Amino acid sequence: MSAQYYFPKFTITLTFAPTMANQEDIFKNIISHSKEYGFIFQSSEIYDGLSAVYDYGQMGAELKKNLRDYWWKAMVQMHENIVGIDAAIFMHPTTWKASGHVDAFNDPLIDNKDSKKRYRADVLIEEHVAKIDGKIQKEVDKAKERFGEAFNEETFRSTNARVLENQAKADSILSKFKDSLEKNDLEAVRQIIIDCEIVCPISGSKNWTEVRQFNLMFSTSMGAVSEDSNTIYLRPETAQGIFVNFLNVQKSGRMKIPFGIAQTGKAFRNEIVARQFIFRMREFEQMEMQFFVRPGTEMEWYNHWKETRMKWHQSLGFGEANYRFHDHLKLAHYANAACDIEFNFPFGFKELEGIHSRTDFDLKAHEQHSGKKLQYFDPELNQNYVPYVVETSVGLDRLFLAVMSKAFVEEKLEDGTTRTALNLPAFLAPIKVAVLPLVKKDGLPEKAREIMDLLKFDHATAYDEKDTIGKRYRRQDAIGTPFCITVDHQSLEDNTVTIRFRDTMTQDRVSIDALAKIVDEKVSFKKALMSLK
Ligand code: GAP
Repeated sequence: MSAQYYFPKFTITLTFAPTMANQEDIFKNIISHSKEYGFIFQSSEIYDGLSAVYDYGQMGAELKKNLRDYWWKAMVQMHENIVGIDAAIFMHPTTWKASGHVDAFNDPLIDNKDSKKRYRADVLIEEHVAKIDGKIQKEVDKAKERFGEAFNEETFRSTNARVLENQAKADSILSKFKDSLEKNDLEAVRQIIIDCEIVCPISGSKNWTEVRQFNLMFSTSMGAVSEDSNTIYLRPETAQGIFVNFLNVQKSGRMKIPFGIAQTGKAFRNEIVARQFIFRMREFEQMEMQFFVRPGTEMEWYNHWKETRMKWHQSLGFGEANYRFHDHLKLAHYANAACDIEFNFPFGFKELEGIHSRTDFDLKAHEQHSGKKLQYFDPELNQNYVPYVVETSVGLDRLFLAVMSKAFVEEKLEDGTTRTALNLPAFLAPIKVAVLPLVKKDGLPEKAREIMDLLKFDHATAYDEKDTIGKRYRRQDAIGTPFCITVDHQSLEDNTVTIRFRDTMTQDRVSIDALAKIVDEKVSFKKALMSLK
């Protein structure tokens, strides 16, 4: 791609080319960029941080809000039959008994006796299998290079001896693992770790403890007396706040099935393997929607929401190839279908959103534990029933990481310099317009302030008069600002300014009177929302 840069009075041609060698470097650069430009900080950093907890800075809070707004508009505002709520984080403790979280929201843990480090047994096994998959991929890549155009991957995978051997190994481990989990046989899980000769990455030893189940919910106590009955939990998912309010919303909103209830909010999980920056956190935000349907129609709605949610992600413009479905083979006890939308993060394809057909499990469980009926009278069928539920559930922080990881680019320009930019869709950018007086005198700052006053009621704007204009452009590129408006001496004469576009670095000279319209059009959510139809 090439473009022209012509400010103030010279022109150079640019060529854009990624300069970073590998994904690991890219990921490290995203993390340091996030800190340097006020997107994400480690929580309580001055006390050396709190593991797997992060704070969003001045830019991060804006981007996160825009992502949340885009989800809310697409899910609630665009659907007559979906409404949004905001339930409390604390819920009656019986909620979590009914939902199954008290008894079954566990991770299988194993400790290495030498390093005293604790691991999730399932993660150790999955990582071991991923290494075998990596070996297979290497063979495939080598052969692809050797045979060129004539290469047929399917045939190669089904005939190459080394690939077949490794595939059989991986399949056998996964099948034993699935078996042991289904039987809740933790000794068998441990045996897989021993048989695979998995070593602790810290001590390098195979000196493992037994595997134990560990509940992921954080608990605290309510009121002054610390007794068992006062134990309450920080919600591990927002969904239950929707289920317990099902009838309140249905009756007060006179909702007719099928209808949805959406909410965004914090969730908490005591994750043991908390790594990969904001991918797996102990405090995070979810955006969930429960869609209540007539029993028997759930598969139709499940497929509908699968497609709808995929389209939503792809509307962000980061390339369809970066998303894929992963259908669950092993279903949770309450689900009759489930899948993930996976995203190609810098560390590979991983879950971004879950779509689950949860049957009537949750509402029935709450009926049983509360003794209250949670049913819907269907006037068309003239009968009462407990609705079935299709859930869409995406982590806002994970979405943030997905967006950052594809928007972040380092480009080598033809003049030898490097430009760091965040190629965010304009409607998501933390700052929409930066207003820059060319110099700090001659009435230009005052004129620039007038433009700020014109735009700030509708848009997040920034004013910057420090450093050369080139440096200021780069600062705005680095935070993803789609438009920079430069006020120069000509502006005082004819009421025009230059508007510079982040992506192409080109500029137009436009009338100040036309600015609001130009910016409004480009940064509005409308175009993206219309593409979802
Ligand atoms: N109500 C269903 C539910 O909570 P989930 O698959 O456990 O399902 C849904 O979580 C989404 O929440 C995930 O796809 C992910 O995006 C996000 N999520 C889950 N655990 C997370 C964590 N520890 N840190 C960040 N995001 C998380």
